Amino acid sequence: MAKNQFQKVRGMQDILPADQIAWQHIVQTFTEICEAAGLSRISTPILEDAQLFIRGVGEATEVVHKEMYTLTDRGKGVLALKPEGTAGVVRTYLENGMPSWPKPVGLFYIEPLFRYDRPQEGRYRQHHQLGVEIFGVDSPTADVHTIALANRFYTRLGLATSLQVNSIGSLEARKRYQEALRDYFKPHEPKLTDLAKKQLGSNPLRLLDSKEANMQELIEKAPQILDYLDKSSKEHFAAVLEALDDLGIGYDVNPRLVRGLDYYNQTVFEFKGTRQGSQDSLGGGGRYDGLVELLGGQPTPAVGFGLGLERIKLELEATGHKLEAQKPDVYVVYLGSEAQKAALTLSEKLLDDGLSVRIDLTTKTMKDQLARASKFEAKYALIIGETELKAKKAILKDLKTGNQEPVDVAKASEKLAVLLSS
Ligand code: HAM
Repeated sequence: MAKNQFQKVRGMQDILPADQIAWQHIVQTFTEICEAAGLSRISTPILEDAQLFIRGVGEATEVVHKEMYTLTDRGKGVLALKPEGTAGVVRTYLENGMPSWPKPVGLFYIEPLFRYDRPQEGRYRQHHQLGVEIFGVDSPTADVHTIALANRFYTRLGLATSLQVNSIGSLEARKRYQEALRDYFKPHEPKLTDLAKKQLGSNPLRLLDSKEANMQELIEKAPQILDYLDKSSKEHFAAVLEALDDLGIGYDVNPRLVRGLDYYNQTVFEFKGTRQGSQDSLGGGGRYDGLVELLGGQPTPAVGFGLGLERIKLELEATGHKLEAQKPDVYVVYLGSEAQKAALTLSEKLLDDGLSVRIDLTTKTMKDQLARASKFEAKYALIIGETELKAKKAILKDLKTGNQEPVDVAKASEKLAVLLSS
């Protein structure tokens, strides 16, 4: 076979018809759960000013430093394909006067994101996140409400996840912790990569995200953030854990969890699935009380998360969740070209009435058509032969039992609706 002239770009994925069943199920479940909790959907453009991420997410993060796709806007500045969703949502929050909306402002999104990462299963250069951002509330209750929403979503999909939580403290506590990390890593500076050296200067917290093999032992022995929390951060975190206990949401405190983006403070969390390796994070988030101000707004507490759609789909497959395409309610079968016209009119009417219908649009033998009705696992067939055509009737056949009876074409839809609802 001749090789296709074009292939998809490395790290990109087609979402084929067979993938769409699970995809739509995930999207729909997430949408229902967000809307039930009073959140409103938002979409932001794929392209943003690159500075939004450099400033908002942090220049020393892997996501911005190594993985961000940038392009020049015909000589008018540097744009980025958005590598994450939060900064764009904060930008639109400020640009569209949302700070004056009644608090909290709760938004959700389902968006493609782009990261120039090394592609492998569960890690793509275009992936999609199901995200939530809630602005204007600083209570531990808001953190737990947000975590519970993600937890409810996984549960409703039938996934058993494990939750890891940590606190990276107030912005002041983080500064003290960063100093401790700087002192700890400084003697090892000559061995560090260029990015790690940069991180040591600008944000040593990022050294803890490193996937470099020779860094793992150092990271393991590094000072832990929980020892640097101030009183109010400790109280905030204790209240989060208590509320999780009250709701019966299981968790592990992971003192090494710092998340890979600079904007977080206080509570951070991550959901893991059963698949192992560096792609085991099914989603994560946390509080980011400084970001709105950093991007030009008034100080505004905020909390949110992003869940990886592709990884959730892989997890559903890995744990044996089979989602099947909707089976047709009825297959319309005909004999001859006059009956074909009547069959088309009938099938359009059935579709108008909201039934799921299939019809062969090229002339085929009745045997072929019935074979296809079985292949598609249609529940019923409506058969129009020469005799039925003259009598304005069709034979309604139950394809499971083989029972059949004549029905008036005009009443076929009504009759099917009754049968399908019983
Ligand atoms: P993140 O941890 O970078 O957070 O990404 C969230 C989730 O997106 C990950 O847990 C993973 O499931 C999925 N993901 C990330 N990168 C890839 C990739 N290359 N391929 C496939 N899936 C991927 C954020 O992006 C934050 N904006 C989340 C957030 C919202 N925090 C507060 N609000």
